Amino acid sequence: MKTKVFSMKELTEQQERDAIDTCAAIIKKGGIVAFPTETVYGLGGNSLDAAVSNRIYAAKGRPSDNPLIVHICDMKGLYEVAEEVTDAAIKLAERFWPGPLTMILKKKNVLPDETTGGLDTVAVRMPSHKNALMLIKASGVPIAAPSANSSGKPSPTKAEHVLEDLAGKIDAVIDGGAVDIGLESTIIDLSSDVPVLLRPGFITADMIKEVVGDIERDPTLDEGVCGGMKPKAPGMMYRHYAPNGDMVIVSGDTDNVIEKINELVSEHNPWETAVITTEENKDAYSGCRVVCMGTRQDEQSMARQLYSVLRSMDEYNIKYIYAESFKSDKLGDAIMNRLLKAAGHKVIYVERRY
Ligand code: TXA
Ligand code: MG
Repeated sequence: MKTKVFSMKELTEQQERDAIDTCAAIIKKGGIVAFPTETVYGLGGNSLDAAVSNRIYAAKGRPSDNPLIVHICDMKGLYEVAEEVTDAAIKLAERFWPGPLTMILKKKNVLPDETTGGLDTVAVRMPSHKNALMLIKASGVPIAAPSANSSGKPSPTKAEHVLEDLAGKIDAVIDGGAVDIGLESTIIDLSSDVPVLLRPGFITADMIKEVVGDIERDPTLDEGVCGGMKPKAPGMMYRHYAPNGDMVIVSGDTDNVIEKINELVSEHNPWETAVITTEENKDAYSGCRVVCMGTRQDEQSMARQLYSVLRSMDEYNIKYIYAESFKSDKLGDAIMNRLLKAAGHKVIYVERRY
């Protein structure tokens, strides 16, 4: 199959609409189309069609027990797929939709088991990216869309990343340029009494608490999958966002982190070794490739570059990757969550815990 690429650059409004209509027609016929959202690129298809969900799993090489997020373009869409739209869901939708928040609610039976991985709940999100909203509207159905990467690879933040992984396996890609946020949506489970944060993202725990009061945090976010604990979002269980090389995070006071990383780097060949850092510390390392993810003053710039940085590790055939720790109360929580998963939760603590 040849994957068609629809570039949205420098199009008139009419040309943009025509391109979206062509992609919507592909979706209506049971095809699958990658499209930009404000978080990462998604791989979309008709969520009401079991065969389409199976095509999505096959293209990604993703286990089919890992449910897909259903994307809607208006509140009517929410009632179409969710059985119980709770007060909390309405409040959160009013505050954060369209935007990077996914809610887990009891599902309606119109959704096939293939879309929800056999669960009785559905993950729903209304993205804010103009092309995403146009595509969902023109398709006339709620769109199931996981991140448009091969399973296990970092999520795509550009159309080029999508093509790297999925060219020849999907019908089309809408190229809307680099995404804005660069990390997948926050996931909040509203299917039980107390909301539970399943995946941190741009919408932070504190922002959600302001709207719905206390929330819990899936314990596996911090500890990883150990002692028989399973994350409630099945996808959070898989090794993910991961480069091929062996990745370790070094955490603690800056000076100690730098000293430790330089010590570790010196044990390997320079061309096989990389450090992930920020502008603040980039000159402190030598004897390896030094990769910089923006500055700590601007966490959004770090988030935007994280997956490109992880992908570049494979491009350069890096075998040993050492990353600094970037914990903070804001976006740093989501950044660290993805880094910890990329590193399979391998962390060296020097001096104090972050
Ligand atoms: O930002 C995003 O959310 C992107 C864009 C494309 O919208 N999508 C995305 O989808 O990240 P995906 O499939 O890569 O991640 C979906 C996560 C998985 O960890 C999955 O297990 C979880 O959501 N999930 C989906 N349905 C669920 C459910 N009913 N209960 C718990 N977790 C669920
Ligand atoms: Mg994904």
